[in-house]
Amino acid sequence: MSNYHIKHLEEYYQVYRKSIREPENFWEEIAGEHFLWRKKWDNVLSWDFKKPEVKWFEGAKLNITENCLDRHLATRGDKTAIIFEPNNPNEPAEHITYWQLYKRVNKFANVLKSQGIEKGDRVCIYLPMIPELAVAVLACARIGAIHSVVFAGFSSTALATRINDSNCKMVVTSDGSYRGAKTIDLKGIVDEALEQCDSVKTVLVAKRINSEISMKSGRDYWLQPLLDEASDEGKAEVMNAEDPLFILYTSGSTGKPKGMVHTTGGYMVYSAYTFKNAFQYRDGDVYWCTADIGWITGHSYIVYGPLANGATTVMFEGVPSYPDFGRFWEIIQKHKVTQFYTAPTAIRALAKHGAELIESFDLSSLKVLGSVGEPINEEAWHWYNDNVGKRKSPIVDTWWQTETGGIMITPIPYVTPTKPTYATLPFIGIQPALMDEKGEELKGNQVEGRLCIKFPWPGMARTIWGNHDRYRDTYFSAYEDKYFTGDGALRDEVGYYRITGRVDDVIIVSGHNLGTAPIEDAINEHPAVAESAIVGFPHDVKGNALYGYITLKDEGESRDQNNLRKEINHLISERIGPIAKLDKIQFTTGLPKTRSGKIMRRILRKIAEKNTDSLGDTSTLLNPDCVQEIIDNAL
Ligand code: WT7
Repeated sequence: MSNYHIKHLEEYYQVYRKSIREPENFWEEIAGEHFLWRKKWDNVLSWDFKKPEVKWFEGAKLNITENCLDRHLATRGDKTAIIFEPNNPNEPAEHITYWQLYKRVNKFANVLKSQGIEKGDRVCIYLPMIPELAVAVLACARIGAIHSVVFAGFSSTALATRINDSNCKMVVTSDGSYRGAKTIDLKGIVDEALEQCDSVKTVLVAKRINSEISMKSGRDYWLQPLLDEASDEGKAEVMNAEDPLFILYTSGSTGKPKGMVHTTGGYMVYSAYTFKNAFQYRDGDVYWCTADIGWITGHSYIVYGPLANGATTVMFEGVPSYPDFGRFWEIIQKHKVTQFYTAPTAIRALAKHGAELIESFDLSSLKVLGSVGEPINEEAWHWYNDNVGKRKSPIVDTWWQTETGGIMITPIPYVTPTKPTYATLPFIGIQPALMDEKGEELKGNQVEGRLCIKFPWPGMARTIWGNHDRYRDTYFSAYEDKYFTGDGALRDEVGYYRITGRVDDVIIVSGHNLGTAPIEDAINEHPAVAESAIVGFPHDVKGNALYGYITLKDEGESRDQNNLRKEINHLISERIGPIAKLDKIQFTTGLPKTRSGKIMRRILRKIAEKNTDSLGDTSTLLNPDCVQEIIDNAL
């Protein structure tokens, strides 16, 4: 019998050791005993981090939706698979059973096919958090089309870049979306994006806000009439374990977003196994992850992981602040949520509005609290623990990435003793390493370095869409034979890990991964701007906020600075999305540079953090004088 469900600490250590000593035997047992395969593998694992090439369960055949849907029908067909909680609290919640979800996915899959979508085609999904989003994702997987979900807060330019990068044939969207008291014209954004996208032949439009939109004849179709006509039966396409399941874009240190490619078999096994254990999900539980399906958290822990375990998963359309900051607590009470998974930025925003708001709600159903997306600071950890969990529900601080597919370092609730701000121990099968500046692995405890992973795990991304060299250069070239995460971490005296933050040019703002380069590119498009540099600085709600240092061309010098700031932020919103707007913009006559012309962000970061005592030696800079000017005018 495999150890699918870890129940106590001794078992964790025993299973962990086995997963490291005999990884192939270990994963073979998990995969073999808890999933539905059309054909089992010829080979459990082959790998080479130099190429890099990683293959799990080669030769196996399956369809992930048969694992998420079909196999549950006999035992729990009438159980709720998805609870949809709408933006407006007065609109009734929708409970979708496994049978209903199965039929809706089949209908959608049949619509995709009738619109000419075939196995291997890319379908871009740009939808709000409504049931059609989960259904569209699963429908693609059912027929072997590769979904590329783009978060519906991204701008038309960002959407177009992503559609073009993977040549999507179709876009699935809605007339619009609700976001708190606001509505957003999603179809308008899609129309604008598609002016730059030749590959898209069809747009399917779900009706959500009943707005007047324009439909381009021969390209745009309302979704519902097509679904109404489609059959609710359909065979799942038989996929190879290493066939791509989806592409999901994440920002990198350089301009273009990286289309991380996840494949079918390994991703399924890893997302399901981590879900079961990191949340200690048991039959009858109601699990709620507040993320959007547009991020990896939503892919793995709203859709695939929960459904592969036959769980009930909540999808929330709205925001934590609407109609007021009690909304999350109201939803937990209403649906008797047992596992609640959210981000530190949300916790800090809720804490700001006071714990009193919680008191009128019954949160006694809660058993496990989760945190993800950025390091959780001590204050937020305690607030969450005291007020939401009432010191009874363990907090799982789960560290992972879009690239890892699933949770990598986390406590297992009721198993691993927690420690504030620590992600604690590696998950089963995960072999972390901390590296020093010279590229040597730091052995033993009480060390701090750059976080790498030494051995493949089933959920890891296999490549960057259309750019395998970039995949190798970004993740496998910093340290030989290791996957480099881009994060720094420390290991304490008992071997617990604490993630200290990014060590590259990625800044995590409100849990969103933002690269500095694309933001700087957007700013530099402004005709008055000569040059710019973005750094992060601590923010009490967002974790980090963005600080931009900008030099102007001569003609910009005479412009009103506040107008310029507005124009620059507007440009960023258009090019990337509102999440990338700068909190502070300082105009300066120069940016500190090395002799070779590289901007010294380290100095700019310290000034933004108001930490100017430790700037170090600036005399070797190309232009040391600008540093004092920047300090004097710092915001
Ligand atoms: C980066 C990955 C994993 C889904 C959400 C973000 C940071 C994530 C934690 C955590 C400290 C964390 C890291 C990581 N991060 N979780 N529990 N503690 N940092 O996915 O957008 O790919 O971002 O988020 O810096 O590298 P992502």
